[in-house]
Amino acid sequence: MAGRIPQHFIDELLARIDIVDIVDAYVPLKKAGRNHQACCPFHDEKTPSFTVSQQKQFYHCFGCGANGTAISFLMEYLHMDFIEAIEDLASRAGVEIPRDAIQSSAANNQSSELYELMEIVTGYYSKQLRNHSQANSVINYLKSRGISGEIAAEYELGFAPPGWDNLMTELGGSDGAQKRLLKIGAIIENDRGGYYDRFRDRLTFPIRDQRGRAIGMGGRVLGDDKPKYLNSPETPIFHKGRELYGLYQARKTLKEVDSLFVVEGYMDVIALAQFGIRNAVASLGTAATPEHMEKMFRVTSKIVFCFDGDEAGNKAAWRGLENSLPLLKDDKQVYFMFLPEGEDPDTFVRNKGKEAFLDTNLQTPLSEYLFSYLSKDKDLKSLESQASMAKITLPFIGKLSSAPALSSVLVRKLSDITKIPPEELTVQLREYKQTGSIKTPLHSSGSTFKKDDGQQSQLTEAIKLLLRKPELALDDSLNQKLAEIEVRGIEFLIEIVKYIQSNPSTTIAGITENYRDREKIRNRLIELAPSESQYGDADFSDESIRDSFLDSMNRLKEITIDSRLREFGNLSNMDELTEEKKREWRLLLEAKKQLKMAKS
Ligand code: UTP
Ligand code: MN
Repeated sequence: MAGRIPQHFIDELLARIDIVDIVDAYVPLKKAGRNHQACCPFHDEKTPSFTVSQQKQFYHCFGCGANGTAISFLMEYLHMDFIEAIEDLASRAGVEIPRDAIQSSAANNQSSELYELMEIVTGYYSKQLRNHSQANSVINYLKSRGISGEIAAEYELGFAPPGWDNLMTELGGSDGAQKRLLKIGAIIENDRGGYYDRFRDRLTFPIRDQRGRAIGMGGRVLGDDKPKYLNSPETPIFHKGRELYGLYQARKTLKEVDSLFVVEGYMDVIALAQFGIRNAVASLGTAATPEHMEKMFRVTSKIVFCFDGDEAGNKAAWRGLENSLPLLKDDKQVYFMFLPEGEDPDTFVRNKGKEAFLDTNLQTPLSEYLFSYLSKDKDLKSLESQASMAKITLPFIGKLSSAPALSSVLVRKLSDITKIPPEELTVQLREYKQTGSIKTPLHSSGSTFKKDDGQQSQLTEAIKLLLRKPELALDDSLNQKLAEIEVRGIEFLIEIVKYIQSNPSTTIAGITENYRDREKIRNRLIELAPSESQYGDADFSDESIRDSFLDSMNRLKEITIDSRLREFGNLSNMDELTEEKKREWRLLLEAKKQLKMAKS
């Protein structure tokens, strides 16, 4: 979706509006030095640590780490989705969303037709549950599973009658109508170019998105036929990896959603609702995706994964953990509820009741689950197993880029388990975040750290400086300099430079928005973005920033040269070099000398 609105438009939009006005309308700000401040709206606090920088068009909270652009603010604070936030800002700025986006608005018109049709299909099936001559089969089935008429009505359960063409006959009167039914996945094309109903002789579960639009459905057989469930396929209006069954109803029934239970199936949601537990959503048989997580964290601060007590459920739980880490904030929690073998939320709540299901003793915090899962087959007594525990655990902690407090608690806990001092783990963690791997042997005697000639930290430094002062990218000689640098990860710096060069008035906000679809990179950028306390008002002149940046470039070049020189190895075999190689070697030495001279 994000891709359809051109990035340059987003950038210009961010340049036109002022984040201070936007935030101030919801969270009154006070001027403090060059910035504006308030008590953070994203966590509880008494003294303000939430600052908004007019210059950078960025907000940041020192307390909880919340940060982002005006777009992020609208998404986080007002729970808008990305498109809604853009639309909101565009209307404030009085600008039209441009052409490529308008094309997608033609697609929108088409979509609205599909939403309407899906609504009609939903209505058709729920009407069959009330009126069809064979509806008794479903009604009895629902009764046998303890579902009342009220809950069935509230979740709009329906009946797809037996037969191949009930829906076709009712709604597929013209070519166009058939095409649209096909598009929403309600009918299927056969080999002979004819059509037949997808859902036949099934109990149906309409799926609504958060705005309440009908987007798809699921259908369960009443007996033991296979497949047990059918679902709408991916369609222009239904994306399984994005939607959560029951979220619409949860938000509709509950004023405040204190927590959300994530369960596997339709019937789990329905059974829990029957027991008065309205805050359950189902991920529709897939593991929870990052998109699911984001969606949920916009409406609640506590997520409890409660999957079936079987192999598949355990796998899904672990996947849920992995997808949660990058999205966790210090004020958002994830728990796991492990049901007894063979149970699912539906059977559990029916056997043990509401109180038992809600007992928080059954909920394992993410941190505990993480450690117990990773240490499963380790004795943790030998130095080797401690080192290996540290090595496999740190990458997970490294993903907690938006939860600094949790991250440091976990480091301490890991230190307890592995007997490796926390400072040492912290160094490893930093190295992992910078290079994506842990090279230094843990538990090495005397803890000597191998350095990578500082190339990664130089690169990081350069990116930091660039974020602080994007104009640095506009220096004429920069592209040439970058072309001469060969260190791992340099492409990333080049990419940012190119972006700034084609959007010269961009700010840090624009740069991070450019990476909205590439979450890892975006999080990394946000991490590297200057925090106000560090670079607040005085101490760095533009001049000194520029100098530091040039220094970084030179240093990276020097690292490149040194590593090329090293390839020549020991100079005693100089004679074996070809003339060409000798020339290259001399050029490298020359370049190195030049750099040294430039420095002094
Ligand atoms: P389960 O097999 O755990 O079903 O699948 P359930 O919800 O407990 O169903 P009941 O209690 O037997 O009625 C969990 C979810 O996985 C998807 C469905 O979304 C289902 O709710 N699923 C399962 C399918 O899509 N197709 C299938 O054939 C089975
Ligand atoms: Mn079940």
